[in-house]
Amino acid sequence: METIPVENIEERAVVRATDVCRDYQVGEMTIPILKSVNLLVKEGEFVAIMGPSGSGKSTLMNLIGCLDRPTCGTVVLMGKDVNMISDNELARLRGLEIGFVFQSFNLVPRLTAIENVELPTYANSRSGVDNRKHAIELLELVGLEDRMNYRPTELSGGQSQRVAVARALINDPSLILADEPTGNLDSKTGKEIMDLFTDLNKRGRTIIMITHDPNLAEKYADRVVYLKDGYIESNNDVAN
Ligand SMILES: Nc1ncnc2c1ncn2[C@@H]1O[C@H](COP(=O)(O)OP(=O)(O)OP(=O)(O)O)[C@@H](O)[C@H]1O
Ligand SMILES: [Mg+2]
Repeated sequence: METIPVENIEERAVVRATDVCRDYQVGEMTIPILKSVNLLVKEGEFVAIMGPSGSGKSTLMNLIGCLDRPTCGTVVLMGKDVNMISDNELARLRGLEIGFVFQSFNLVPRLTAIENVELPTYANSRSGVDNRKHAIELLELVGLEDRMNYRPTELSGGQSQRVAVARALINDPSLILADEPTGNLDSKTGKEIMDLFTDLNKRGRTIIMITHDPNLAEKYADRVVYLKDGYIESNNDVAN
């Protein structure tokens, strides 16, 4: 049997969180949310993160996506320790390699749907890509071809969520971080988004998705990580 050299295993690690903790300061009190989280996600995996409301799933996602820094421990993203690289390098890594779908969408109110989808490309863009054309294709993909010029206040929650999914994909990221990406969608549209993620995953993209829905986790993910009381309580492969 072929043995894979250790350095190759490390190369395939997209995310490695080691002894990560995150406290929040509320007034005089220090509240520990993540106490010691260890997580390895390899290239091409589809991982679901579950856990009770308030258990720190979004907090963990923000740390993985380098939007926040851990109180202790290390996060290594695509081989780079995020505490060791420059802010510029970090911004570029985030802008080109990570697609975020936030729980609260985070669309910019004064921009239209298509401008929101294009927004990440204003800061970082892959060369040779027609971003406007790609944004249109993505909005068509999520079924919003007739809402391209609407602003977020003119869109329903589900439509906003679909704009957020399209925006996450604009730079063709290798890692997709999605926080409840189907939480506001009817089951048919939710399935369409999940099929889109499955397709991206089959084409080599790594996906980390937070969900409250055990059926969704079991059906689409390779692995389910369960977060509880500041620790990863279980980390199980899904038999598909
Ligand atoms: N900026 C902050 N300051 C203080 N406490 C915070 C802050 N952000 C989050 N928290 C607290 O951290 C805990 C975890 O929040 P987080 O958003 O990560 O939970 P979650 O698992 O994503 O929950 P949900 O399933 O409801 O989205 C919560 O109890 C929350 O009150
Ligand atoms: Mg959350």
